[in-house]
Amino acid sequence: MNKTHYHPLSIGLHWLMFILFVIALAAIEIRGYVPKDTGAEFRAQLREWHLAAGLLIFLLVWIRVGVKVRFGAPRVLGDSALQVKAAYALHGLLYLVMILLPLSGVIFTQAGGREVGVFGMVLPTLIGPNPELKTVVKEFHELMGNAVYFLVGIHVLAALWHHFALKDDTMKRMRFKQD
Ligand code: HEM
Ligand code: HEM
Repeated sequence: MNKTHYHPLSIGLHWLMFILFVIALAAIEIRGYVPKDTGAEFRAQLREWHLAAGLLIFLLVWIRVGVKVRFGAPRVLGDSALQVKAAYALHGLLYLVMILLPLSGVIFTQAGGREVGVFGMVLPTLIGPNPELKTVVKEFHELMGNAVYFLVGIHVLAALWHHFALKDDTMKRMRFKQD
């Protein structure tokens, strides 16, 4: 397989999921600044946005994997084998994040005895109340949630490095309109 282009669905899902990450992270960060007593309603709304964006990421990641398996993807470009391997490893980690973060979010919320409800819909209960499990999985979620900034930060810097320093097609092939 020697592809030169991403399937348009892969490109669309990449950028749609980028927006969903921004919504999930912005909602939970802003929530941290809203006072618990006077801003309870706004805090609940932000939580709902966080959950909705996170659950959508979980739904879409399987379609994204399916499209990649079915239609393939171009090889990562790079000037050394090590750099190319690092890029694949980082992409793999980003896929893990897209699966494990929402999953852990659902598990710790339900283990904490709360419903996972978004815009009037409630997810079936998969796990009953379990305070110990809640603590461990919540810590994992927060750790991984914060690691996302770091992982996506490296990913974006690498993309910029390809574009401006190596001057290769990495950035161009994630655009919808290609020359
Ligand atoms: C890829 C999607 C997701 C990302 C990137 C993400 C990321 C984060 C981050 C960065 C935090 C703040 C951690 C901190 O306070 O240090 C957080 C908290 C939280 N997440 Fe997620 N999350 C995602 C999906 C979900 C889902 C699907 C759920 C629930 C179904 C969920 C439930 C929560 C809750 C309830 C908190 C607040 C914890 C608290 O402060 O009490 N998250 N998440
Ligand atoms: C401003 C933000 C972002 C930029 C500029 C960006 C840029 C890019 C570029 C240029 C590629 C193509 C790499 C190649 O062909 O070798 C790519 C691929 C990829 N990006 Fe991003 N990205 C961003 C955000 C994100 C986010 C938030 C995620 C998910 C957590 C993500 C996950 C991936 C993955 C997994 C790939 C591998 C190709 C695939 O399987 O879709 N990116 N990105």
